[in-house]
Amino acid sequence: MKTIAVLTSGGDAPGMNAALRAVVRTAISNGLEVIGVKRGYQGLISGDVIELNLRSVSDIIHKGGTILYTARSSEFKTDIGIAKAVQTCKDLEIDGVVVIGGDGSFRGASKLSNAGVPCIGIPGTIDNDIACSEYTIGFDTATNTAMKMADQIRDTAQSHDKCSIVEVMGRKCGDIALLTGIAAGATVILVPEIEFDIKKDVVERIKMSQGKGRKHFIVVIAEGVGQSQEIANIIRYETGLDTMITILGHVQRGGSPTLTDRVYAGEMGNLAVKLLLEGKSNRVVAMKKGRLVDYDINDALKMKRKFNFAAYKATMEVSI
Ligand code: ADP
Ligand code: F6P
Repeated sequence: MKTIAVLTSGGDAPGMNAALRAVVRTAISNGLEVIGVKRGYQGLISGDVIELNLRSVSDIIHKGGTILYTARSSEFKTDIGIAKAVQTCKDLEIDGVVVIGGDGSFRGASKLSNAGVPCIGIPGTIDNDIACSEYTIGFDTATNTAMKMADQIRDTAQSHDKCSIVEVMGRKCGDIALLTGIAAGATVILVPEIEFDIKKDVVERIKMSQGKGRKHFIVVIAEGVGQSQEIANIIRYETGLDTMITILGHVQRGGSPTLTDRVYAGEMGNLAVKLLLEGKSNRVVAMKKGRLVDYDINDALKMKRKFNFAAYKATMEVSI
């Protein structure tokens, strides 16, 4: 192995730069040359690349976003797209690729590995929705940002005796909503993993809390649940509370990565290159019981995510 490539793919996540830095520096320290691919798989298809050296990744450990840019490439989902990417790897004598992204990106990495280009995936997404790993790069920063935003919303909700609905990201995964809801002391947390009854689990719960003297409320809703507007209308009608919605949106994707995201991104980036050096392919780096492990990508993609029902139950007993 002489030359490896690295790319970021899918939605950007804080900490991707820290992972990139670790990949580049580990590779160079082990005698490899490193090519940075711009805009994910699209850059691999079109050959949009830059050479990376030790100093190319200076001063990025604390920066959000990704200096390599990222993209969602529909062409890479086709056989022709894969063939073009394989050709770029042949032309540039790329012996392995590190892919920093989510499970969609890993599906692409698996196809590229099968086509003869060894790939290693690093979980990078704010959603924490990669079943094989307890942790994904960006999740800690995103949840801390969402918590801070919810705290600010609480100030005004408290001052005006309002009910504030905070809608957070996460695609079909409720982890951002769960942790934000716990940390913000939300009376109601709605996630796609738990079916709910609007009367019993939302209206009656708020009324019960009103009966115990609470006058302002935070309701956190995962975007995968949807219906925020409808839920707001029902709360307003049934409880008489002035109810407003804040959709946090892309503020959750930006910002300087937290300590946790930087530390784990560094370790994951280092391990990904070590796996390539050991001759491994079609693997994904993951966190299991607080330690780094690696899995076959196809096995990893078959795993089912476990929602933390215990944490949900505990916070429902506390935030009343
Ligand atoms: P994430 O990696 O965050 O889950 P996406 O699902 O958007 O984000 O996937 C990122 C990119 O990975 C896609 O734009 C596409 O280029 C590639 N990809 C996703 N699914 C596949 C697939 N089934 N086959 C090949 N490439 C894929
Ligand atoms: O996967 C990260 C994520 O931010 C999701 O939480 C969200 O559903 C999606 O990306 C939004 O994607 P986009 O910014 O492309 O609309």
